Amino acid sequence: MGCLKSMKLLINNTTIVTVNDQDQILEHADLAVSGKTIVGVGKAPLDFIPDRVIDGKGKLVMPGLINAHTHLSMTLMRNYADDLPFSDWLFKKIKPLEDHLLAEDVRLGAKLGIAEMIRGGTTCFHDMYFFMDEVASEVESSGIRACLTSALFDVSGNGEALLAQGCRLHKDWNGRSEGRITVQLGPHSPYLCSPEYLREILIEGRRLNCGIHIHVSETADELSESRRLHGCTPVQHLSNLELFSLPTLAAHAVHLEEEDFKLLSENGVSVSHNPGSNLKLANGFAPVEKMLKHSINVALGTDGAASNNNLNLFEEIHLAGLMHKAVNNSATALPAKTVIRMATINGAKALKLDEEVGSLETGKKADLIMLDIRQPHLVPCHDPLALLVYSAQASDVTTVMVDGNILMEERQLQTLEMGPILEQAAHQSLELIERSQSRCPF
Ligand code: NI
Repeated sequence: MGCLKSMKLLINNTTIVTVNDQDQILEHADLAVSGKTIVGVGKAPLDFIPDRVIDGKGKLVMPGLINAHTHLSMTLMRNYADDLPFSDWLFKKIKPLEDHLLAEDVRLGAKLGIAEMIRGGTTCFHDMYFFMDEVASEVESSGIRACLTSALFDVSGNGEALLAQGCRLHKDWNGRSEGRITVQLGPHSPYLCSPEYLREILIEGRRLNCGIHIHVSETADELSESRRLHGCTPVQHLSNLELFSLPTLAAHAVHLEEEDFKLLSENGVSVSHNPGSNLKLANGFAPVEKMLKHSINVALGTDGAASNNNLNLFEEIHLAGLMHKAVNNSATALPAKTVIRMATINGAKALKLDEEVGSLETGKKADLIMLDIRQPHLVPCHDPLALLVYSAQASDVTTVMVDGNILMEERQLQTLEMGPILEQAAHQSLELIERSQSRCPF
């Protein structure tokens, strides 16, 4: 890891976007970290003697970004299936590759994804995929924070085995890496999980006392199929099954009826809004403005790199900040302050980690990023929030810290070696494609 656990670190004379309850922004301020914990925001404690001082002049410090919905190892499928309708994309191109996935694919895809996320200022992510022990190991060694779920579905007939794997992942990894890893259950979606299977997942979720991460109402077809099969929307279907009695993160929620907003709000369901993926797959515009009016906690996610085609949360911030103004025909929709909350504290709430991360406040874990704001596209800085939403790029992030450990400094990864990762991941991606073609009779 980049620095000693007990290290006392001071970032001085900087601009701090706290994302606290008052959305305070502090200028010429200091931020003190002792070990894993933030011990001073604005000023360091009087008796604080730092082991190291980082010059914060010309920098902006903010909470690390939280990617509330992704399938990390799909980085290997980046730019492999593009400009296709959703069902062709998923069932003709992506699923055949996933049918031939090996643990090594997932391991290298995760490594590549973690490198990409750290370099873009993401300090925590919520993942749903296969061979999740591989992802957990890479999270452990890289120093990033994650909430992990094994994808669960019973349409292929092996639902029981997948559920057993998902529960075993919880047993083996929940709370590991000094609390950096948490585990939930990940029923893929109402359309890949039968009602009986979802009831079993509910029982296991109650037993494990954990939350769930599920795709909900991503496409118009999903909505009409749900009406045909269950006589109601996917949200109503899940509510009828009492799935929302578990803490729930619903990915997408693009196609919602009036009743759905009430159900999501009353049940405290969080939503991961994934604008890049929704735009690229032409799945529609999630009614985020209306969700927020119903006090639904909306976070931001990238979805997998096969439908985005990156894991760049600054791009999602930018898209969310622009798209909802156009869709609502209102330049005041989703102001910068709201979008930054979605990418930080709302993500922490969605992952049930808001006591620990998501804002820069004394007592919270030191998960933070620094941006170099002395660059032509970021000067002058009249409003740091507007700067972050409308002007900043992922490549402006210079320093990334998780749990007080520096994972990137001056854009150099500290826990991962980028050269070999790029080479190995590119090679593994070709192997995966070859493997799927050689064994596929079609
Ligand atoms: Ni997804």
